[in-house]
Amino acid sequence: MKKDINNNYWNNFYKKKHISKPTLFAKFCVSKLRFYNKTIYDLGCGNGRDTVFFNKKKINSIGIDKSYSAIKKNKKNFYKFRNKFVNKNFCSFFTYKNFDFPFSVYSRFTLHSINYSDEKKLLNSLNKQKKLEYIFIECRTIKDDIYGKGKKVGKHEFIDTHYRRFIDPKEIKRRLSKHFKISYFKESKNFAKFKKENPCILRLIAKKK
Ligand SMILES: C[S@@+](CC[C@H](N)C(=O)[O-])C[C@H]1O[C@@H](n2cnc3c(N)ncnc32)[C@H](O)[C@@H]1O
Repeated sequence: MKKDINNNYWNNFYKKKHISKPTLFAKFCVSKLRFYNKTIYDLGCGNGRDTVFFNKKKINSIGIDKSYSAIKKNKKNFYKFRNKFVNKNFCSFFTYKNFDFPFSVYSRFTLHSINYSDEKKLLNSLNKQKKLEYIFIECRTIKDDIYGKGKKVGKHEFIDTHYRRFIDPKEIKRRLSKHFKISYFKESKNFAKFKKENPCILRLIAKKK
C-alpha cells in the first residue's frame, strides 16, 4: 500500500502536546453566523480547537480528521466532546451519504492540504448535498511568502516538511460559482499571524444555491 507521507507528518505532529486557543477564523465565522443552530463539520479539525469552540458556542460541530493521533488525543483532551470527533477522510465523508439535516462545512488550513483530485472529489460530493448551507474556507494562497519552498510536485504544489497546494483565489471562486453564491471573499495578510509568520490568506464564505 502507498504510504501517506502527509498523514505520517500530521500523526507525528499531533503526538506532541498541542492545544491552543480557537483560531481567529473560527471567531470570525461565529460572528457572521449568530445563533446558528445547525451542524458544522470541521474538515481536518487537527487538535480540535475550533470544533470545541463551536460546541462551546452551542453550535453542534463534528471534527473530522484523517490523523488517528489527532482524533485519539482530542477524544482524551476534550472528554466531554469525545463524540464530536471522527477519524475519517473528509474528501470521501460526504460521498456516499445524503445528509438529511441542515449543515455547513468549515475548512481552515485544509483546502491547501489536499490535491486537485481530492478537492474535486470533495466539491462534487458537497454539490450533491441538498441540505448543505454554507462553506467556510480559510487557506494559503499563491501569494504566500512560503510559496515555492520545498520540492515542486505540480501546479502550485510543493512538499516542504509536508504537502501544500497553494490556492489561486480566482480558481477556487470559479470552481465554486456554479453551486455556491460567494458572500465573503478576501485575500490578505494579518488573518492568521503565527509567531514570525504572516501568511497571505484567503477567507471565503459561500452559500449553497
Ligand atoms: C494545517 S492542519 C489544520 C488543522 C486545523 N484545521 C487548524 O486550523 O488548526 C491540516 C489538518 O488537516 C488534516 N487533513 C488533511 N487532509 C485530510 C483529509 N483528506 N481528511 C481528513 N483530514 C485531513 C490533517 O491531518 C491536519 O490535521
